[in-house]
Amino acid sequence: GRVLLAYSGGLGVFIAFISSQLLKVNLQSLDTSCILAWLIEQDYEVYAFMADVGQEEDFEAARKKALNVGAKKFFLEDLKREFVTQLIYPAIQANCLYEDVYLLGTSLARPVIARGMIETAAREGCDFVAHGCTGKGNDQVRFELAFYGLKPDIKVIAPWRIPEFYNRFAGRSALLAYAAEKKIPVQQTAAKPWSTDENMHHISYEAGILEDPNVTPPADMWKLTVDPEKAPNTPESLSIEFKAGLPIKVVIGTKTYTDAVDIFNALNAVARKHGVGRIDIVENRYIGVKSRGCYESPGATILRAAHIDIEGLTLDRSVRALRDQFITPNLSRILYDGYFFSPEREFVTSAIPGSQRTVNGTVRIKLYKGNVIIEGRYSNERLYDEHESSMDELGGFEPTDTTGFIKIQSIRIKKWGQANATRGQG
Ligand code: ARG
Ligand code: SIN
Repeated sequence: GRVLLAYSGGLGVFIAFISSQLLKVNLQSLDTSCILAWLIEQDYEVYAFMADVGQEEDFEAARKKALNVGAKKFFLEDLKREFVTQLIYPAIQANCLYEDVYLLGTSLARPVIARGMIETAAREGCDFVAHGCTGKGNDQVRFELAFYGLKPDIKVIAPWRIPEFYNRFAGRSALLAYAAEKKIPVQQTAAKPWSTDENMHHISYEAGILEDPNVTPPADMWKLTVDPEKAPNTPESLSIEFKAGLPIKVVIGTKTYTDAVDIFNALNAVARKHGVGRIDIVENRYIGVKSRGCYESPGATILRAAHIDIEGLTLDRSVRALRDQFITPNLSRILYDGYFFSPEREFVTSAIPGSQRTVNGTVRIKLYKGNVIIEGRYSNERLYDEHESSMDELGGFEPTDTTGFIKIQSIRIKKWGQANATRGQG
């Protein structure tokens, strides 16, 4: 059969520095070249697939390596625009967040990569798709549910869940020996004792030395952002304009950005410079295990803060409350758990445009040493009325009405207070 393998370029430099124990759980960071060679050994014809979702990567080197190891074809798809407009912005529009901290950078990229793979597999006549995710993680679930949602008859090969594979390669030495046998280059240079996943939304760091949740991440781990303590002493101002809850214009100094991808790149750049967007969390994976992860989501951190702010000025109170109760937490979990291609995701996201119709306006922001500071906002939407909200004028408000409002509201509260008092006596 012919298989399309989700290929990742960087080699398992990681393996040279970790115990065989750790190796088992960290294999996505390990080059998929060994998987490629192994699939060929199992008599598959292998095509390699890479997605450009904005990660820093030498795609040309990866292409050469895949073809050298024996891939019959290599495909590179630029999925950045799709990623920004179809995943990142809708998540911002719904204020998505997992377990109060994680901005979902990896979860958001998976559906886009899966769609690219399935399109390529269908076009190139691949009956199988394969990936290098481990059996303990979220990504295997995200990829495979997406594959099946898009192409129910696709067949999936997950080597790290196949005993003949994981038993054979359980130890670092076995993998290194196999790499040597298959002439797969193993560079020992930029070794990092943790596993990463990078795209234009974020970078994640997990595993290795981070598995002790009380280990402070070393200063040189953080790759995207400047250490907030070393960020410029002068704050930097910018503004973000939203239309229907989506960013349509960003102004930073003398530069204006209006293209969806340009906007996100510009926010990333300025956030990185000011140390914005670092987090450290122990999260609950869908599988049920806890995992310590560190993330840098520079641009998305600014956008989320700005979007939440403009909603304060422009979003109806009850719409907001219902959205916060039913849409945001559910969509966040749906995305984290890997159900982007599902009826529940379609159902939940169908409510977002209706909630965002009035979310139009501009937020002014200052970045300073890791902080996103809101300085002001304006909008032509008329939900906020300065006269009505003023402490200095009545603006059509009848104070005597409130006496009745409180009186009615207090009926129930007084009863409750009385009952408490009675119980206390008895
Ligand atoms: N824990 C994060 C998530 O589940 C990041 C996963 C990183 N994946 C990876 N293959 N390194 O979204
Ligand atoms: C993996 O286990 O392959 C990476 C981490 C994850 O998917 O959660």
